[in-house]
Amino acid sequence: MTAPRYHLTSYGCQMNKLDSELVESKLRQRGYQAAASEAEASVVLVNTCSVRQHAEDRVWSKLGRLRLRKRSEPGLVVGVLGCMAQEHKRYLLSRMPHVDLVVGPSAFGDIDVTVDRARERNARIAAAREPARTRHEVAGAGVLAVDRGQSGDTIRRDVRVRPHRSQAFLSVMRGCNMPCTYCIVPTTRGDEVSREIADLVDEAQRLCDDGVTEITLLGQTVNAYGRDLTGRNATLARLLRALHEIPSLRRLAFITSHPNFLGPDLVAAMAELPKVARYLHLPAQSGSNAVLKQMRRGYTVERYLTRVEQLLAAAPDYELHSDFIVGYPGETAADFAATVAFVQRVGFAQSYVFKYSPRPGTRAAELPDDVPDAEKERRNQVLLATQAAISLTQNRALVGRTVEVLVEGASKVAGRLSGRTVHHRLVHFAATDAAPVGSYVPVRVTEALQHCVVGELLGPNDAEASAYDAAAATQAIGQGRA
Ligand code: SAH
Ligand code: SF4
Ligand code: F3S
Repeated sequence: MTAPRYHLTSYGCQMNKLDSELVESKLRQRGYQAAASEAEASVVLVNTCSVRQHAEDRVWSKLGRLRLRKRSEPGLVVGVLGCMAQEHKRYLLSRMPHVDLVVGPSAFGDIDVTVDRARERNARIAAAREPARTRHEVAGAGVLAVDRGQSGDTIRRDVRVRPHRSQAFLSVMRGCNMPCTYCIVPTTRGDEVSREIADLVDEAQRLCDDGVTEITLLGQTVNAYGRDLTGRNATLARLLRALHEIPSLRRLAFITSHPNFLGPDLVAAMAELPKVARYLHLPAQSGSNAVLKQMRRGYTVERYLTRVEQLLAAAPDYELHSDFIVGYPGETAADFAATVAFVQRVGFAQSYVFKYSPRPGTRAAELPDDVPDAEKERRNQVLLATQAAISLTQNRALVGRTVEVLVEGASKVAGRLSGRTVHHRLVHFAATDAAPVGSYVPVRVTEALQHCVVGELLGPNDAEASAYDAAAATQAIGQGRA
């Protein structure tokens, strides 16, 4: 008998991507194989995101297509995993009879068993061939909904199941306790739960033993890591120091940080530890104090800037990344202008910009969504263009410099490879066997674009190839700042 084939699509944040890895790892351990395409799979899983309406809409339309497919293929198993499973459990259970499993983000530990059960049940239904009756009547069982169980973090991860040999995510905490008015994440992911340092060091060591050299720690407020582990003195700074000891680890990054938890101990660790990647994803969300207050972000523009200045005073080679929401309820033209000015002032290397999307059940959803969509779109474009100009200036300052690139694989442009610098900057260069995936290679930057740079690989005899030029990067950031 051939192995059952699954197909898993992931939406949402890096945490969802890591959860998807864990789900795949469980399924493969149980004998499932990845299908080449969704059409060839007998188990179709969707790991979902609720953060904006657009993310949900894509899943609803996919589920609509799967409903049609299931009419002719009653044995097909359809599973909704992740944040929408948590957020819309009732609706999925009562109104979507073609969905077989609904598994929230904290219940992936038994996903393989749940999928097995759904397959067996659907096989019985398909064998019964009674199309006039609904699945529930035939099977005598409802949809399999799981919202409690082992979270992915509590299962011993199969470190061999990863998309990249040399790069891995490591989830250090789940959930979020922050009160941001617009955000659904605390509802879908629940309270903050941090893992013990010893447990994380053990998993990181196993990843490194299996060839990983770059680890990115994940948490919704990763720099608040450990505050729920009372009395254990667990902080992100201590965790970074502990992981830094692993000899074969070369790069250590962490996302996403909250401005309120960028304290002196973390700044000191970031400055002192050479393996820590030189970028900080520190979403500001807005550059207007009025909007920040409305959002309950808990800081002002001035406080954000002070924190950033403290970091750059201790470690000038860091670059900053941010997220912004445009069109939050009540955001005036002046508020938005303040955000544009703020982006120019900080000189972010990269920003994600999102149009505000009301999430039912959040505090902000009770306010009138009063910035018209056309105006949200306009602000979105203006802020993206502001950021793109800064990124281009910073990238141009790198032309002629040599950067160290961790090779990630084939670029979208044929004949090229791509990889990332220690600043997470995307670099493309001509494909060659001399730069295998997972290697760290010196690349001289020859061309700057908005979202990446292009360069040429330096050979072993090239004098410039000896070391990554940190001074170049510092200079680049300086030029981007107003
Ligand atoms: N924990 C992270 C990010 C969480 S979600 C943090 O606190 O920074 C990722 C981004 O989505 C957020 O930073 C925010 O910019 C955006 N976002 C969250 N809720 C949103 C909403 N309702 N509408 C539009 N963007 C939103
Ligand atoms: Fe959402 Fe705020 Fe938590 Fe980030 S810190 S996940 S924006 S509630
Ligand atoms: Fe989306 Fe859930 Fe992540 S809502 S952003 S997948 S935590």
